[in-house]
Amino acid sequence: MDKKLKGQIAIITGASSGIGAGVAKTLSEAGATVVVNHPVAATKDAAEAVLTEIKNGGGTGITYQCDVSKEDEVIKMFADIVAQFGTVDILINNAGLQRDSPFEKMTLEQWNFVIGVNLTGQFLCAREAIKEFLRRGVTEKSKAAGKIICMSSVHEVIPWAGHANYAASKGGIMLMMKSIAQEFAPKKIRINSICPGAIQTPINKSAWDTPQAMQSLLTLIPYQRIGQPEDIGNTAVWLCSDDADYITGASIFVDGGMTLYPGFSTNG
Ligand code: BGC
Repeated sequence: MDKKLKGQIAIITGASSGIGAGVAKTLSEAGATVVVNHPVAATKDAAEAVLTEIKNGGGTGITYQCDVSKEDEVIKMFADIVAQFGTVDILINNAGLQRDSPFEKMTLEQWNFVIGVNLTGQFLCAREAIKEFLRRGVTEKSKAAGKIICMSSVHEVIPWAGHANYAASKGGIMLMMKSIAQEFAPKKIRINSICPGAIQTPINKSAWDTPQAMQSLLTLIPYQRIGQPEDIGNTAVWLCSDDADYITGASIFVDGGMTLYPGFSTNG
C-alpha cells in the first residue's frame, strides 16, 4: 500500500476489536503511527494482540487505555500522546456499542451508556483533537491541519426499531460532525463520517453467524456480501489522505447499497 499517511500520528478509539482494529491495521499499512485505544483493563490483551499484528507487519504504535465517555481520561490521553509523539494528526472517533431493547423496556442506564460512549465520547475526543490541530496548524505532513473521522452508521438515516438509543447516537453524530466541519473548515481541519452498513464483527454476530441469519441479512444488501473491516479501513485511509483534501462535512456510506431501499427493487 502507498504510504499516504507517512509520519502521521493517528488515535483510533475502540481499536481492540471490530472496525476499530481493522482501521488501525489499515492506517498503519499506510504509514501512520497508531494509538490502539481500548476502554478498560479487560480489553488490554485484545488491544495488545492488535498492536502485535501491526508491529509484525512493520508498523509502529502503542496501546492506550481510556474510556472515551470520561472527560478526565480523554483529556489525559490526548496530553500523553502529544507528550510522547509531539502531536496528533488523525482522530478516528470509532468507539461505539449497542445495548438493544424494546423501547418501552429500555432503561435509563441503557440509554445513557450508549449515548455516553457513542456520542459524548465522540464529542470529547473531537474537542481535544481540535485543540491540538489548532495549536499546531498545517505542516508539511498534510495539506490539512488535522483530520477527524466520526464512525457513524447507516443508522444515522435508517430508523432502527429496538435500537432507539443507538440510532439516536448516530443521528446525533451526523449533525455534530457537520456542525464542527463547518466551524473548523477555515482552520483547515477536515471532519467527515464513515457510515458502515453490516460489517462482519462481534457487534452484529447474531446477524451473520448462522446460514439463515446471513441469508436474511443479504436481503438488505444489494451488493450481496457482508462488509469486512478492511472495507472501512481502506475508506478511512483515503479520507484521511490528501487525495480527499477537498472533502469535509460528508457522510460517506460504505454499506454495499444498504441505504438504497432494497425492499423497493421489484415494485413499490
Ligand atoms: C450496527 C450493526 C448492524 C449494521 C447494519 C451497524 O451500525 O452496529 O449491528 O449490523 O449497522 O444494520
